[in-house]
Amino acid sequence: MTTKRDFLQLGDLTRQELDQLFARAAVLKADRRARKTHQTLAGRTLAVLLEKNSTRTRLSFEAAIHQLGGHAITLTPGESQIVRGEPIDDTSRVIARYADAIVFRTSGDDRLRTLARASSVPVINGLSEGGHPVQLLADLFTVIERHGSLEGRKVAWVGDGASNMALSWIEAARIFGFELRIGAPKEYAPPASFLTTVGAGARVHVLTDPREAAQGADVVSTDVWTSMGQEAESAIRLRVLGSYQLDSALLGKAAPSAIVLHCLPAHRGEEITGEVIESPQSAIFDEAENRLHTSKALLELLLA
Ligand code: CP
Ligand code: NVA
Repeated sequence: MTTKRDFLQLGDLTRQELDQLFARAAVLKADRRARKTHQTLAGRTLAVLLEKNSTRTRLSFEAAIHQLGGHAITLTPGESQIVRGEPIDDTSRVIARYADAIVFRTSGDDRLRTLARASSVPVINGLSEGGHPVQLLADLFTVIERHGSLEGRKVAWVGDGASNMALSWIEAARIFGFELRIGAPKEYAPPASFLTTVGAGARVHVLTDPREAAQGADVVSTDVWTSMGQEAESAIRLRVLGSYQLDSALLGKAAPSAIVLHCLPAHRGEEITGEVIESPQSAIFDEAENRLHTSKALLELLLA
């Protein structure tokens, strides 16, 4: 019997597996354009368990498994017995009796790990405080699509340097060896303990000037200033992060061929301007589409 594989963070796959996943995603994307269909996951069931809202993660995983011949069942926040106190490990063991894999979106990483430990089927992190690895698959794939490779790239991250997205970019920098410059106020810098563990050996520069971070970058990315669950801090975050907006002037510091990424949902006029989102350098909607193709490749890798 083979042991199940989880995808709780990028490093749960080897570099070689990640490269294969991107290659497979490119094939699946081309096949979808050509209306070529697949049955690689026929009869398989994916459970999507959400403790926070979602548009892209839910829909891309549902569409992904359907388009590979399987089907999905989703429980939205508040819909399951979890809100009435059912332990997460009981929930996990039960879902694993019905489904072949679980996508779990939650707050604390302890909940994610508890669910994964209790599950006999693969568990995929659909976003936690500690990272958003399925989003990074789409982001990295988009960089490869636009720039040909990740090798030698300079990636700038501006804004909340402690967000789940920033943390996953740090992990990606370690795995793929590209340079990551984080431009964040000291209040929202990535935790030192994360940099010395998950980020150990990565070429990550933590800066407080967003212009310095963006200078000459091939990719400029940002995320909301107030992530889900941080709503009580939104006034202070708005104030502290106010000078870290990704606007045309900041993008002008990057390489002329730079692309802009944002995982969405975006708050126009806060972390990014509408002008940048709609600019020719924006790869944001390709990035969103690529959630579908990379999720398919991930499901095949974990399940087929
Ligand atoms: N980017 C992303 O994960 O979007 P959702 O919150 O809509 O799933
Ligand atoms: N950092 C954001 C990402 C949303 C996809 C959040 O956690 O709300």
